[in-house]
Amino acid sequence: MTKTILRALKGETLPTPPIWMMRQAGRYLPEYRATRAQAGDFLSLCYNPELAAEVTLQPIRRYGFDAAILFADILLLPQALGAELWFATGEGPRMSTITDMAGVEALKPKEEIHETLSPVYETCRILARELPKETTFIGFAGAPWTVATYMIAGRGSPDQAAAHRLKDTDRPAFTALIDRITEATVDYLSKQVEAGVEVVKIFDSWAGSLKGQDFDDFAVEPARRIIAELKARHPGLPIIAFPREAGDGYIGFAEKTGADCVAIDNSVTPEWAAEHVQSTGCVQGNLDPSYMVTGGEELVKATRRVVDAFSGGPHIFNLGHGITPEADPDNVTRMIEAVRG
Ligand code: CP3
Repeated sequence: MTKTILRALKGETLPTPPIWMMRQAGRYLPEYRATRAQAGDFLSLCYNPELAAEVTLQPIRRYGFDAAILFADILLLPQALGAELWFATGEGPRMSTITDMAGVEALKPKEEIHETLSPVYETCRILARELPKETTFIGFAGAPWTVATYMIAGRGSPDQAAAHRLKDTDRPAFTALIDRITEATVDYLSKQVEAGVEVVKIFDSWAGSLKGQDFDDFAVEPARRIIAELKARHPGLPIIAFPREAGDGYIGFAEKTGADCVAIDNSVTPEWAAEHVQSTGCVQGNLDPSYMVTGGEELVKATRRVVDAFSGGPHIFNLGHGITPEADPDNVTRMIEAVRG
């Protein structure tokens, strides 16, 4: 096994951490913007296997990252379950809303999601053939809580208020929705693995707004169920969990869920994460993505700080969240040079 990311995920401490970036295929790259224009719009790009594979490969060609992440979106699964989804230009995603049990029951059965999602599996098959031999291929899905926040509110929101309201006022409908998403996510990720994905990552972007028992019930428990079922179907499959802004919730998250690696956002310091999270396994992260906009000597210093803090254990270098459209592609080169020396 020579792929560096697979070695780190097995717990190996490498002299130089492998590196990739969340949203590495994205609008900061001129070649991405050109392919997206060719596809017409973002969702057409997601459902066009040739072009989705092309944008997945673009950052690998330009930077030689150690991993490629499937080009898709966490909101394709709710769309496959029957939610309406569209992207309002400059405003992010919009969806139809679920407000009660009738809305949950109107969703399609999980057996029907593959009709919509089959182009994504075709993208996986193309990439499994075309990626360089040394590049690890990562598939992904959203975590049930994060996906539910969009399905309930019909859009992104800074405080996830609508989802919290349903959770606190109609627990049966809320838990039924979480269960539906959890079960569909297992089947979706399982198909990605059958189509050639080598690692899966579960994005819980809004985990930070779940507190106390809610964090255990709706961030930890759904991740644990997904991971247990995936590992039963695909023994040895490495899984990365990203409970973003979990704070103290990062501590023990890998043990409680069975994840092989916990991705850390940049609201905690790398020194804190090394002491409290990496002490029990592989971590990924956690450079502040704003350095990809501002660059300079500060970028090099901050990159070295992350590398040094995590140098005593298994580590996959990454940003604390996705790279933004304003980022300068040359700053990515500078970051990679600072990691690889
Ligand atoms: O990381 C990658 O390069 C792989 C592809 C990927 C995308 N979205 C492509 C995308 C992945 C892994 C995601 C995950 C995703 N999508 C998350 C979880 C991670 C996170 O960022 O917190 C969430 C919450 C979504 C939902 C979503 N999709 C939002 C909120 C937006 C709008 C925000 C924005 O940046 O405009 C998207 C759109 C989206 N997904 C884009 C990309 C490249 C930009 C769309 C465009 O090209 O116009």
